[in-house]
Amino acid sequence: MGGMTASLRDLTAWVDFQNSTAHALGPYAAFVHGACLVFIDAIGLSVASSRAVREARRTRCIERLLQLLPPPVAAEGARALHLGTDTVPEMAEGERPQPYAARPVHAHDSGAHDLAGAEAMDTSTDGVARAQLFGLPPFFIDLGSAPSDAAFSLHAPTTRANAFRVLRALQLRKPILLEGSPGVGKTSLVQALGAACGHTVVRINLSEQSDLMELLGTDLPVEGAPAGTYAWQDGAFLAALKAGHWVILDELNLAPQSVLEGLNSCLDHRASVYIPELGSTYACPSTFRVFGCQNPLQQGGGRKGLPKSFLNRFTQVWMEELDASDMRLIATNHFPAIPATLLERMIGFARALQREVVTLRKFGSRGAPWDFNLRDLFRWCELIELEQVGPYWQPSQFVDSLFVQRMRTVDDRRAVLALYGAWLGGYEPGAMPGASAPLPRPITAPGTAPGTAPIESDDGFVLQPHYAITRSTVQLRPLEALMTCIRMRWMCILVGEAGAGKTSLARLLARLAGRPMAEVTLSTTTDTTELLGCFEQNEPSRVRLAALRATGTLVAHTTQALLLSGSTHTGVNVHTGHCSATSAVAAECISVATRLQAQWAELAAPLGTGGGGESRDVLGLLCAIEADAPPEGARYDAAADARNGCL
Ligand SMILES: Nc1ncnc2c1ncn2[C@@H]1O[C@H](COP(=O)(O)OP(=O)(O)O)[C@@H](O)[C@H]1O
Ligand SMILES: [Mg+2]
Repeated sequence: MGGMTASLRDLTAWVDFQNSTAHALGPYAAFVHGACLVFIDAIGLSVASSRAVREARRTRCIERLLQLLPPPVAAEGARALHLGTDTVPEMAEGERPQPYAARPVHAHDSGAHDLAGAEAMDTSTDGVARAQLFGLPPFFIDLGSAPSDAAFSLHAPTTRANAFRVLRALQLRKPILLEGSPGVGKTSLVQALGAACGHTVVRINLSEQSDLMELLGTDLPVEGAPAGTYAWQDGAFLAALKAGHWVILDELNLAPQSVLEGLNSCLDHRASVYIPELGSTYACPSTFRVFGCQNPLQQGGGRKGLPKSFLNRFTQVWMEELDASDMRLIATNHFPAIPATLLERMIGFARALQREVVTLRKFGSRGAPWDFNLRDLFRWCELIELEQVGPYWQPSQFVDSLFVQRMRTVDDRRAVLALYGAWLGGYEPGAMPGASAPLPRPITAPGTAPGTAPIESDDGFVLQPHYAITRSTVQLRPLEALMTCIRMRWMCILVGEAGAGKTSLARLLARLAGRPMAEVTLSTTTDTTELLGCFEQNEPSRVRLAALRATGTLVAHTTQALLLSGSTHTGVNVHTGHCSATSAVAAECISVATRLQAQWAELAAPLGTGGGGESRDVLGLLCAIEADAPPEGARYDAAADARNGCL
């Protein structure tokens, strides 16, 4: 089994499992399920293998396992594992073990069709008290009290099989480690199970920078108290432990050794943590569960594997990859408006991309490792649902931003487009009347933007009408992708050679959108206090500077608003940049803005450069308007654009 050895801990876990489930499952079913839990569910973990190889291994292990049973009961064991049908049980009345009386719960929970709620008789009392349970037969867990709102499709076959393994693992009190490719739904499965069972799930994202203080707690200054007063503040992990919540330790293998060691005592038989600063020990309540999640090493899961002795504390569950039918089910459930035929092709394209780039490595060697998964599909669907109306679906509209722009070389981009052509080339049923081709367009006026990605300004700022930008398609395509990210509130990483214009592109966009942008230069020595802040001595000059900066932004906003309202009265032509202050209102606006700027310039002198940047831009514009001429280079030349093929 790929070099796996059975430790004493594994054997104890197997026995524990049988002891705790034999009464409900019967001895042979408990025997085989226990072996699956301890040995077979982990197949795939820590070794690179294909799905077919994993399946073959599992089958071999199960065959061997069944041979361990005396022949007359081997069939019973096989039945318990649902061999020959599906590894995961469907709802079937007869198959549920006696103590459970099935009753579907969460009728409102559309994602959990195949999950059963059940009521268990608490036989220790007179049989009246009943505990609420939730799970996939025959594995159930206690229902907590937090409300359920899972938007997760537990009925996709692979997800269901994965969920089944996790539910089986939950029968033991050990922490559970989920490993699987990015995007298979490790984090969201735990969240969904937690939500469905009414447990609050606390997610802690670990990284190389995580430290134990974040998790367990530390002494912090007390707000409002005299200087030097410190009080203990629980970290996220300790708080969750005390409250008996579920905890996800996400990206577990990225955490430094010290963090792992600090958590050790909560993860093994001691099930408690000692906090030296408080001189107390906290025992893990029975509802407290710990889930570790990590990506496989070979898929960007960090530089190191976890030590075997640490891994051994967990029940390890490999999360099998989603196949096309899972994706179809999940996507149909999430995006009911998008027609099935279209989804089918989009999934085909995404999977073909994954196969050619990741599995076969036909292209895309620059920038590897790649992964195209459900997340990409979800983004694509979100954009389509948000921006388009049926039946005029145009999936191609976002292919550039979502897939093509990610590739690093022209050949790779062509290869992506060719794949797109193969899967969706003939799809688009016809353009929506009046819709433009999804080619980048130059920025021309407030509210318009490259291609199809306008940024709304919700705080009164608009794209500056006279702002001159390079109208090269090379810049506009990434700009469009960037704007899409901002509009959708997705994080974005600009990747490119030194000097390719990454920073300038971000700066340009910030200026176009009129948003202040903070720039932080990261290096290997940057630490979180620089980004998030820390306690420092009170410094009056810093407060003054912050106030001045805030005022600067306000002045810039006001000036811009004045000028824009002036421009509507003068009828400024945003396409040519020409304007003249003919009306009295416009003249008044301009004069107020001028005075405001003059006063601000005086006040802002101590800020030096950096503080008044935005205002100075506006001032330049103002001067240009006063001079009754468009600022240098700011005129938009539609004819030139047409010549350059940008229109
Ligand atoms: N069965 C599913 N039903 C609905 N959404 C899913 C399902 N599996 C995964 N997803 C979605 O896929 C994305 C990636 O899942 P996530 O749990 O973050 O993956 P991982 O933690 O394995 O990297 C999330 O947006 C998640 O909601
Ligand atoms: Mg995750």
